[in-house]
Amino acid sequence: MKRIAIFASGSGSNAENIALYFRNSDKARVEAFYCNNPKAFVIERAHRLGIPLMLFNREKFYSGDEVLNDLRSRGIDLIVLAGFLWLVPENLTRAFAGKIVNIHPALLPKFGGKGMYGMAVHKAVIEAGEAESGITIHLIDEVYDRGKILMQAKCPVLPGDTPDSLAERIHNLEYEHFPAAIERLIDE
Ligand code: GRF
Repeated sequence: MKRIAIFASGSGSNAENIALYFRNSDKARVEAFYCNNPKAFVIERAHRLGIPLMLFNREKFYSGDEVLNDLRSRGIDLIVLAGFLWLVPENLTRAFAGKIVNIHPALLPKFGGKGMYGMAVHKAVIEAGEAESGITIHLIDEVYDRGKILMQAKCPVLPGDTPDSLAERIHNLEYEHFPAAIERLIDE
């Protein structure tokens, strides 16, 4: 049984979707959520799902091994970043090399890197006049949005799209593809 940890900074709809997907699985289980934002709705989702959540600040995350030790104490095998907005520190990228997977709401390598998250991404895609956008699921290392791409799924950018309408189309791709991409990674 693989043990999954999910890191989120915001609403946590992907985190919840993944937790529910594996709820009755004999392959993997979501052991805990990790969050860097005391106002994040993912905290409420964890409570409702009965999933432990570790809240941390920059100090805890970037100095010392408190988060790493918590992951180890839970026997975590795979870290999933689902809307997690901070760069993952080296102690984690080293300890979990090849075992940290992220979802980015655009078709990397375009529209990636620092500051490219949430509505900013969709706004940039629309302003660039792109005909399509999508999601990228990739392994991460210590540089934002770099790392081996595991899969991409595309959707059209429609005339008259707003960042909100595009975000909704992208979210639907995320819910459809992220859990299965994680399962494939576990099966490898
Ligand atoms: C998603 O769009 C994801 O691609 C990006 O952050 C957003 C997270 O949304 N990394 P949620 O917190 O899972 O609802």
